[in-house]
Order: sequence, then structure tokens, then C-alpha cells
Amino acid sequence: MADAEQQIEDYRKILEITKHLNSTLEYRTLLQQIVLAVVDVIKVEACSILLIDPSTGELRFEIASNLRPQETEKIIVPMDRSIAGWIASHGEPRVIEDVTKEPIHFRGIDKDIKFETRNLLGVPLKTHTRVIGVVQAVNKIGGRFSGEDINLLTILASQASVAIENARLFMQSDFISEMVHELRTPLAALKASVNLLKRPNLPEDKRDEVHNLLASETDRLISLTSDFLDLARLESGRAEIERDVVDLYPLIRECLTIVEPQAAGREIEINLDVPEAAVVGDKGKIKQVVLNLLTNAIKYNRPRGLVKVTAHSADNGMVQVDVADTGDGISADNLPNMFRKFFRAADHANRVQGTGLGLAICRTIIEAHGGNIWVNSTPGSGSTFSFTVPAA
Ligand SMILES: Nc1ncnc2c1ncn2[C@@H]1O[C@H](COP(=O)(O)OP(=O)(O)OP(=O)(O)O)[C@@H](O)[C@H]1O
Ligand SMILES: [Mg+2]
Repeated sequence: MADAEQQIEDYRKILEITKHLNSTLEYRTLLQQIVLAVVDVIKVEACSILLIDPSTGELRFEIASNLRPQETEKIIVPMDRSIAGWIASHGEPRVIEDVTKEPIHFRGIDKDIKFETRNLLGVPLKTHTRVIGVVQAVNKIGGRFSGEDINLLTILASQASVAIENARLFMQSDFISEMVHELRTPLAALKASVNLLKRPNLPEDKRDEVHNLLASETDRLISLTSDFLDLARLESGRAEIERDVVDLYPLIRECLTIVEPQAAGREIEINLDVPEAAVVGDKGKIKQVVLNLLTNAIKYNRPRGLVKVTAHSADNGMVQVDVADTGDGISADNLPNMFRKFFRAADHANRVQGTGLGLAICRTIIEAHGGNIWVNSTPGSGSTFSFTVPAA
């Protein structure tokens, strides 16, 4: 194809891609579409997106076309000692013809995944107010990056930034409407109770009943609103995560003491096999994670079931904690949704009290610690929730 023809073809492609991007509000899908589009249009072996974490200001890998999500997750790239960091802080594109000659090239990832970065073109992801990250096209196929490549990637990046911001805002607005919805039910119960209490001829025993209902619904509202606040703070990055050395065993014991009455109520036995180990993190928040997992393991267990808490050291300097139960387990359909806000399995939604925020909170906390959280389950015989936190 002649140059001019090729150019027209490229712009036509970009136009089509950006139309597509703007209609995608699902965050992961969107990121995937962006990296695939870059690989296709710029003609490179791989593409990655790094975004600036609003809370810490750190630059993190969000996605890469040549990596599985687990591999990119949470890799922090030093802002002052990486090409991506340079691009993000200067807000300008940059071509590196030969990364081996580049003293600030960050080699952490290549080493981990046995991928060799030879050359790259990086462009900042900018919204109208700020730089939110960097998109990198890696290893140009059959030649060098041209001025045209820089233009094309810059256009793609500006469209991608808008789409990423929209998807983020959409996640927020979704949260607010679901939150309001969740608050309305206990509020309606409170209003009905207050109206009942106004009746002059209400029998004394009925009055007590309404008082109890008022008390329990207000408690529920208080715990709901604090869950909402926790999540909103964590997600916006306003929550401070302490980095203390925390002994795991006493922490888990404290959690057991709290849930013991609940377990006793259902005659559930809890076994503990946790070695002496110290982790680095926020004691209160890690405790919240263990408590949420334990509460679930009790709530969704069979009566007279078993809960087992174990811990061991894992790869990459992490400690892994497992909470296993003997409940109904989780169907394959539900597995991918477990950590989503407000998700509740249909057969639990009416039977067991809950909001569907516990696991979403766990995930945000664990990820803020640089760990992972996941679940394995055999429907019919039980589930094991596991998480990792950095070892001290
Ligand atoms: N151990 C488990 N076994 C089986 N299903 C579980 C287990 N833990 C969680 N679930 C399912 O996942 C859903 C989400 O759990 P999550 O802890 O986020 O919310 P919840 O327990 O419903 O409410 P809460 O916000 O009070 O924790 C639950 O409603 C339940 O259907
Ligand atoms: Mg729960």
C-alpha cells in the first residue's frame, strides 16, 4: 500500500476503535480492547498500560497484551527509574530505539516473564486535567517507530484516557445508586416503626417489639454505612494503610473470640493451624478481612459444620492464609462474581442476612497491601478463601 493509502487506512481503523472504546464501560474489557488495538494499529509485539494509583501516586501495570492478569497485577514501576515513569512525569511521548542502552529501563518484568523488550514507544494517557498513566507499544515489527506511529498512538491514547475515566466514573455511579438502594430498605422499616409507635392504643408488648426492631434496624444501618464508607475510602485511596509488623497468630485468635458465639449458635467447630508468623500491614484492616471470611465461613456453612484456618509462607515473600468451610460451596457460575460489590448468591439472598459487601471490602484491603485474594470451591462440599499479605 502506498504511504498515503496506509495512513487513511490507519485513521479509519482508529476511528472505528474509538467508537468501540467509548461504548465500553466495563473496565477490564476496555483495557483489553485498548492494548489489542495498539498492537494492531502500531504493529508491535506487545502493548501495556500503566496507571497512576491515585492514592499513592505509584505507577502500576494494569494490563499487558502478552501477560495474564495475575502476572501484571500490582507490579509497581518506580516513577524515577523507569521509562514509563519518565513519560508520566514529563507528560510527553518517548521512543527508545534500544532499551539495552537505556540506563533507566525497568527490567523487573522482562526478568519475571522471560520477555525481551528491545525497543518501545510510550505515550502519556492524559485527561483534560492530568496524566493518568502511560501506554507502551513494545517491539516494533519489521523496523523502527516512525513519526506516524507517535501520532497514531497519541490519538489512540487520548481516546483511551477518556474511555478509562468514563469507565471509572461509571463504576462510581453504580456504587452510589446501589448504596442508596440498600439504605432505603432499613430506612423504610424505621419509618414504619416510628409511625406504629405514635399510635396511642398500641399494646405494651407490641411497643417492645417495635422498639427491638428499631434497635436492630438502626444497628444494621450503622454497619451498612460504615461498610460503604470503608469501601469508598479504600477505593478512592483516601484510607491510610498502616505498614506495621503484625503477629498473625494473636490477630487470628482475636478474630476467633469475636465470632465464637456466632459459631456456637450453629454448633460449628473452628480449627486453627497457624504458625508463628509476622506480616507487614494494617492490623485493623487485616483483622477485618479475617473476620469477614470467618463470618462467611460460619454463615454459609451447614449446621454442625467445620471451619479451618491455616497459614503458611508462600512465594515472593508473602504469607498465605486459608479459611476453609464445609458449606454448600459456590457454583462455577458464581465464582467469578464473588468479590464484586453487592453480589450475593441467589440461594443465600433470601435466607441469610448480608449486603454483599464483605468480600469486596476484603479484596480492596488485600490489594491495598499488595496481596491477592481468591477462592476455590467444590459445590456440595465447601469453599476455601485464601489471601496473601507481605511477610515481615
Ligand atoms: N464461605 C462461603 N460459602 C459459600 N458462599 C459464600 C461464602 N462466602 C460468601 N459466599 C457468597 O458470596 C456472597 C458475597 O459474600 P459477602 O461476604 O461479600 O457478602 P454477604 O456475606 O452476603 O454480606 P456482608 O456484606 O454482610 O458480608 C454471599 O452472599 C454468599 O452468597
Ligand atoms: Mg459476608
